[in-house]
Amino acid sequence: MSQIKRGAFIVLEGCDRCGKSTQSRKLVEYLESCSIPVKYMAFPERTSDIGQVINAYIKNKQELNDETIHLLFTANRWEHKNHILNLLNSGTTLVVDRYAYSGLAYSVAKGMSKQWCMSPESGLPRPDVVFYLKTNVATLQNRGQFGEERYETEDFQTKVARCFEDIYEMEKSYWQLIDASQSQDTIHDSLRQKVLEVLKEVENTEVNVLDW
Ligand code: TMP
Ligand code: MG
Repeated sequence: MSQIKRGAFIVLEGCDRCGKSTQSRKLVEYLESCSIPVKYMAFPERTSDIGQVINAYIKNKQELNDETIHLLFTANRWEHKNHILNLLNSGTTLVVDRYAYSGLAYSVAKGMSKQWCMSPESGLPRPDVVFYLKTNVATLQNRGQFGEERYETEDFQTKVARCFEDIYEMEKSYWQLIDASQSQDTIHDSLRQKVLEVLKEVENTEVNVLDW
């Protein structure tokens, strides 16, 4: 009896407007075209009860203190933990737009304690690979105005970018640095190649745990 090969847990991270969503979509389309079972997810997942509160906060329709919103972002991942594990273990590859690293980067960029922010993320399923789409804020600006949502200002994104650098140094062993100023096609080609390698590498392994 052949054992089901698990899917890979792939995360894309970076500042707002760095191209994560476009690249996630292109990657999912590519994997589908290879007949690889794949699903796209994004955090915050805005449709659950918790997700709707997060959405109101991001859209500046609701105020919450920093600790509360941090824990809600984390809880939004925890409430999807079983779903993530079930999909991976039944052979579906996940392409996930933001995860615990955004949780850490955006909260620490506000001046919160890194240790405090990491703690509730500990024990979540850990991605097999994180593609860190690194940009400088000047490049982001060339792409046009930031949107209307909370956090989408040049000043704040500069701080977030610094936090991502710090997280990259900490989590290097499974992070892949991608120069997000390259063309969409160039970025897509390198993601494709790396993803196929990762799929093979992890298919007979257990899903890792984030040990923060
Ligand atoms: P989005 O732009 O990818 O939809 O995410 C909405 C905002 O939420 C974005 O500015 C990043 C921020 N965010 C956090 O502050 N903490 C988190 O845990 C996540 C997943 C996102
Ligand atoms: Mg955004």
